[in-house]
Amino acid sequence: MGVGPVDALKLSNVGYAYSDSTRALENVTLTIKEGERVSLVGPNGAGKSTLLHMMDALYIPTEGELEVAGIKVDKKTAPQATMKAGLLFQDPDDQIFMPRVWDDVAFGPINMMLDEKEVSRRVERSMALAGVSEYAERVPHHLSFGEKKRVAIAGLLAMDPEIYLLDEPTANLDPASRRALVDVLRSLNKSIVLATHDLTVAFELTKRIIVLKKTILYDGDMRGLMARPDILAEANLELPSIPRLMSEWKIRSGLGFEVPTTMDEALEILDRELPRHG
Ligand SMILES: Nc1ncnc2c1ncn2[C@@H]1O[C@H](COP(=O)(O)OP(=O)(O)OP(=O)(O)O)[C@@H](O)[C@H]1O
Ligand SMILES: [Mg+2]
Repeated sequence: MGVGPVDALKLSNVGYAYSDSTRALENVTLTIKEGERVSLVGPNGAGKSTLLHMMDALYIPTEGELEVAGIKVDKKTAPQATMKAGLLFQDPDDQIFMPRVWDDVAFGPINMMLDEKEVSRRVERSMALAGVSEYAERVPHHLSFGEKKRVAIAGLLAMDPEIYLLDEPTANLDPASRRALVDVLRSLNKSIVLATHDLTVAFELTKRIIVLKKTILYDGDMRGLMARPDILAEANLELPSIPRLMSEWKIRSGLGFEVPTTMDEALEILDRELPRHG
């Protein structure tokens, strides 16, 4: 029997029904490799947050099978699986509860039984990465929504789980903080599942995009998704302005370039296709 690398997440025909019998997920099958980054997109109520809770073994599938870091999740193994993954909640008020920001960020590392010096090191470092060092002594409850979100991100970075599950991490962040967070996430060598309504962030951070609407409508790269207006419409998605502009210009100019997804790719095409002045 070969012992290959363990997948970060493995879902086979997973379904989930809430106790009031609302069916949030149906027949979800996907594998996320160790170190892979994936975006999860889809309309309101698509089941993104439900799926992230499940990937953190906070919900146990009502149908199908789920493995988190090689652990087959059931009632008994769930706490062990939860330790492997870290969930950033969509609403930071569900995450932050200590009376002081510093203690909130330190809560995870302290629970991991790390020594005091290592806890301080992690807290300082992750607060700096999340841009919240100056709030260390503040009362979390008094912070703005975006500030709270960044404190919750610092808490997750301080735990540094094997698998990051991020529910709308950039929602309500100002543009500079959003860019800084994308850079931090890109520098992590971890498995990341990112639920977002912001395709610009998805395109910048992940090659693979999963479109969810109770079940998986699409699982593939951005180029493939851009070629499926039917799926974009079905999932209430809109392409970011750069690919939108460039695909319109492609039609008008009759040029044969491949529609770019990022600004760097777009600049390359413009440099190549536009006559230079001067
Ligand atoms: N505790 C609950 N009890 C019953 N139904 C729930 C519960 N939580 C969520 N749901 C339902 O499950 C479905 C999926 O919700 P979920 O929050 O996972 O969607 P989402 O894709 O995260 O949406 P959004 O983009 O608005 O964050 C929705 O129909 C929602 O109403
Ligand atoms: Mg949600």
